[in-house]
Amino acid sequence: MIKKGIILAGGKGTRMSPLTKAVNKQLLPIYDKPLIFYPLSILMLAKIKDILIIVNKGQLNQYKKILPDGKNLGIKISFIEQPTPKGLPDAFILGQKFIGSENVALILGDNFFYGQNLTEQLLNYRKLDKGAKIILHKVLKPEQYGVAKINKKNKVIKIIEKPSKFISDLAVTGLYFFDNKVIKYSKKLKPSKRGELEIIDLIKQYQKKGNLSSDLIGRGGAWLDTGSIEDFYKTSAFVSAIEKRQGLKIACLEEIAYLNKWIGKKEILKQIIFYGNCEYSNYLKKIIR
Ligand code: G1P
Repeated sequence: MIKKGIILAGGKGTRMSPLTKAVNKQLLPIYDKPLIFYPLSILMLAKIKDILIIVNKGQLNQYKKILPDGKNLGIKISFIEQPTPKGLPDAFILGQKFIGSENVALILGDNFFYGQNLTEQLLNYRKLDKGAKIILHKVLKPEQYGVAKINKKNKVIKIIEKPSKFISDLAVTGLYFFDNKVIKYSKKLKPSKRGELEIIDLIKQYQKKGNLSSDLIGRGGAWLDTGSIEDFYKTSAFVSAIEKRQGLKIACLEEIAYLNKWIGKKEILKQIIFYGNCEYSNYLKKIIR
């Protein structure tokens, strides 16, 4: 069972400069909320309540203004500052104390997931006891991502970071589930040519031992990453279209906490005061009406 989750929200955000010069990328808006709400909502939908957010050095105070400690959401949020970005597996080295002897989920701070059966799938992934699980999604440009080739039983037969030759169109999304060996394996990794510890190298260690499983987010689901300014606008348009049509919000943290019965009306009312007079608050008012 996975009860702990890490959101890796470091990174220099250079592709989005000057927007990211003063503000962390994950605090910039995807339509009507900061980007960080979306990956956090995914962990909350997986009923993970103990969450570590890894942020860039010097950016902790920005985060604490919007996500102080999780109590307002009935969860526990802690923070660590990453001195310099060293690659995704560094999350498990920095987070060693947080993880302790438990299993852990990792979600990248700029990944966006949406889909009909997503919550059900997440609750299944949460059950992982041993090994690692990666989540795959078909994309048009697999060469931009980690890519996995699988057989009919979803067994991963090949996995490569940004392959120059086509092996499959299944990208490895930025949502991962690991058993406790992840700390040990991460410490063994050597930096790649781009000077970073690579998550794909980490996953390969599980694959070698026959302890890697995968699952697909099918075509009815969406996985978007928000690496560039263009992606921010596209993802914002997606969220806006759905929210305006349905009148339901994607990644409203208080709503998820309320439906999970982690908080009650009292906490929601406090949040309404905290956010002030805005559309998000009006939505919260509707939830408890
Ligand atoms: C990273 C991982 C890659 C994964 C991607 C998902 O890529 O290295 O395997 O597919 O995140 O967003 P990067 O953003 O470091 O290029």
